[in-house]
Amino acid sequence: LLARPLSVWRYRELLPVTIPPVTLQEGGTPLYHLKRIGESLGLPNLYAKHEGMNPTGSFKDRGMTLGVSMALQLNMKMVACASTGNTSASLAAYAARAGIPAVVLLPAGKVALGKVAQALMHGARVISVAGNFDRTLEMVHDLCISHGIYLLNSVNPYRLEGQKTIGYEVIDQLGDVPDRLVLPVGNAGNISAVHKGLTEWQSLGWIDSLPMMTGIQAEGSAPVVRAIKGDLPEVVPDVNPETVATAIRIGAPVNAEKALRAIRQTGGLAESVTDEEILSMQRSLAQMEGIGVEPASAASVAGIKKLVEMGAIDPDERIVCVVTGHLLKDPETVIKQCSPPTEIDATLPALLSALQL
Ligand code: F0G
Repeated sequence: LLARPLSVWRYRELLPVTIPPVTLQEGGTPLYHLKRIGESLGLPNLYAKHEGMNPTGSFKDRGMTLGVSMALQLNMKMVACASTGNTSASLAAYAARAGIPAVVLLPAGKVALGKVAQALMHGARVISVAGNFDRTLEMVHDLCISHGIYLLNSVNPYRLEGQKTIGYEVIDQLGDVPDRLVLPVGNAGNISAVHKGLTEWQSLGWIDSLPMMTGIQAEGSAPVVRAIKGDLPEVVPDVNPETVATAIRIGAPVNAEKALRAIRQTGGLAESVTDEEILSMQRSLAQMEGIGVEPASAASVAGIKKLVEMGAIDPDERIVCVVTGHLLKDPETVIKQCSPPTEIDATLPALLSALQL
């Protein structure tokens, strides 16, 4: 196993696909030590697993290599999903790789530009629905059942099988189980997937303990956080979820039950962060560490900042934050936060004057 390169398919014996997979070489993403941000928070052992470095720029590729391979294995002729953006970009690319048509449903006006661009360019049929993500998921579910189309949202268990490899890679890169694993939570598939994978390693006797699974949501869209904090048996959906982190703008997470179990069984935490805290951490990651992520991804690190400031975590913990998608996914939110480039005439004096040198 150790001789194989880091990737989703390094762990193929623990994955359900038996045909040659549809792959774009997903996984094997970097694990970065967050030296400066860690120092500023008093956390010497803070890391980020940059899932934005996958082929289409998000962790969804780990699930799609499995999901679209299973679609072929099961002889399905068409694939579909509803998406806040990244799932649609990934599905479009993997369907193109597999040579089968894809349909994607997006909540109108609430999907970041880069993600729509990807879905369109990879040739999916892109439908913009006048409703939020939760409604588009209901619609695509009905479509798939009535028309024999293969549904590739995180209700599809095979997709989660691929995503569980994030946890495996973290342990292989760190050389040990981290104390805490932190993920942004939207539909709650990823945190459930990683927990499932690590539980399997524990039953194989490969690891002794599990990390404390910690879920971070945006304040305007935080049903899982409310359920954990209120010790509720199940989540109460948000009817009108709202956040700048459109990737996790989800009011009724379909995998909520599994996520609650993951957090509770591992003694983890759930916390929400404001849009301001999310964007501030997006800038810190970019400017203090050179790591470019989209807003939803910055939520995991912003959550840790908040938790350490609240005194809720031990500063000596080894903490890995999963940053889930690339900065370029949402260029509009980036541009809005930065001053525009300085425009000058094409002369050296103008350049020196602009730089105040
Ligand atoms: N981060 C990013 C960048 C995402 O795109 C998503 C989910 C999440 C975090 C949350 O993961 O849903 O498994 O809890 N995006 C989905 C999509 C919903 O359609 O692309 P989750």
